[in-house]
Parts: sequence; C-alpha cells; structure tokens
Amino acid sequence: MEVYKDITPLQHYLNEHKFHGKKIGLVPTMGALHEGHLSLVRASQSDNDVTVCSIYVNPTQFNNDQDLAKYPRTLDDDLTMLREVGCDAVFCPSDQVMYIEPSRTRLLFDRLDHIMEGKFRPGHFSGVGLVVSKLFNIVAPDRAYFGQKDLQQFVIIQQLVKDLSFNVELKRVPIIRENDGLAMSSRNRRLGKEGRGKAVILYKALTEAQKMLKVPVAIEQVKQEVRGMVEQAGVQLEYFEVIDPDTLTAVTNISEKNNVALCVAGYVDGVRLIDNVVF
Ligand code: PAJ
Repeated sequence: MEVYKDITPLQHYLNEHKFHGKKIGLVPTMGALHEGHLSLVRASQSDNDVTVCSIYVNPTQFNNDQDLAKYPRTLDDDLTMLREVGCDAVFCPSDQVMYIEPSRTRLLFDRLDHIMEGKFRPGHFSGVGLVVSKLFNIVAPDRAYFGQKDLQQFVIIQQLVKDLSFNVELKRVPIIRENDGLAMSSRNRRLGKEGRGKAVILYKALTEAQKMLKVPVAIEQVKQEVRGMVEQAGVQLEYFEVIDPDTLTAVTNISEKNNVALCVAGYVDGVRLIDNVVF
C-alpha cells in the first residue's frame, strides 16, 4: 500500500494508473477507522481498479475547538487496517498541505444546511464542502464513496457535485452497526462503559419511531415519544427529524411518501452521536 503525505507524489501515482485507463475510487475519511469505513473501501474495491482512502481531520468542519482537539487520531492502526483490506493508496496530508494559508472560501447550501447538522453545527457543511472539493480536485476520482450514516452530508455533496460540475460518480453505502444496533462511529471510542450502554437508545428510538409511523401514529406524537425515550435513557436529544432522504425536506404525511428518513442526533455523556434509518 502506498502512503502519501504530499499532493504531487500522489498525483504522479494516480496519473500513471489513469494513463493506463484504470478507474479510481476515493474514500474520504477523518481516520479512527472502523468497519463502517472499511465497508466504503470494499465498495470502492469492487467497482474500481485503484482505491485511495484519505485520512484527514479537517479543522474547517469543526465548529467546536474541544471537539476538534478530542477527535481520535489513530493513524498507525488505520494504516494497518487499510493494508489488511488491501487498499491501494492512502492520502494523509498535514494541515500545511491541505490549507497552505487560512481558507477564505465559504460555501452555503441554502435550505439543505438550515436543518439538522447544519442548524446545530454552524459552518460545518461549509468546511465539509471545502475539503471534499479539495480532495476531488487533488485525486480527480471516477467514483467517491460516502456513508448513509451522514445522510445530510451525502445530499449536500450531491448538490456540490452538480453545482461545481465535478466529474465524479457518488455512491451511498449503508450504515454498519454494532451487534446491539449502535451505528459505528469514530466518536464511539470516546464513550465510557456507561455511555456505551446508553448510546444504543438512539437506534432503539429510531426503530420504535419507524414502527409507530407505520401504524400510522401522527408525526408530532412520534417526535414526543422519541424525545421521552431518549431522555429517559439519560441521553440529551438534539433533534429528531422525519425527512425525505433525497431532498431533505420535512415529511408531514408518511402515507404519501415512498422513502422516509428518520434522523437523530444526541449527546451521550458529552459525546455527540448521530444516526438515521431510511424506509
Ligand atoms: P468520517 O466521519 O471519518 O466518515 C467517513 C465516511 O465514513 C463518511 O462518508 C461516513 O458517512 C462513513 N461512515 C461513518 N460511519 C459509518 C458507518 N457506521 N457505516 C457506514 N459508513 C460510515 O464524514 C467524514 O468523515 C468527513 O465529513 C469527510 C467526508 C471525510 C470530510 O472531512
């Protein structure tokens, strides 16, 4: 596996493959890798000739310095995991390589970032859009892989690709979960034993909400039930939204929709976790 910290050697490597007509898949990550990330790598390997995984904790997408400082950084373990799955190349740049000087470009996604993560993490999607644009320009992949775990991020990147005419095909990969249902996340490492026990309520609340909505119980009542369940378990609910997974618009009538996404965010002992189900 090739490991690149700088842009030019990575591009030499990629140009060689592109010259021979090879298809390139990109898997952008912030490291602290788990099975969820590896499922994106495997999806890329099955569609492409060469898979590049990027590992970069992008400061411009953190609106909280504490969250950035506490974000787990486990590069050696990450490289071992990527080698084991047979990833071809890793791009793990420093801040100096990614942001030669402080960036001034800000991206707005209109109503797409006025809700959920965008509402509670101001500036977050501007930073995500910026770093993903940089990665698309640096790697120029044929395909790029993102998880349904960050559903709003996926829809926003779809919009970015259309608006900025990036020549890349996006793939959305399903959520990988622990045995009890907790969505895998790099942030789960920050949970203590007690927090880990509480955290599963987010997924339990999503599956309960899904059952209730299918009855159908009214959306407002389901929202109250979810809040009750989550807070009863000692988790602080930030939002629970019922939306269209393609447009992110609020769903008001379940029976009229083919696809519905239930999205939740909450704090478990100070650790912010998100999850969703699409049905
Ligand atoms: P990160 O949180 O490291 O996630 C990298 C990718 O892995 C994202 O596309 C995310 O949706 C996916 N992922 C995370 N947990 C998953 C799970 N349990 N199952 C399946 N996929 C999962 O998302 C980011 O990094 C950053 O915002 C990034 C796009 C890299 C830009 O900095």
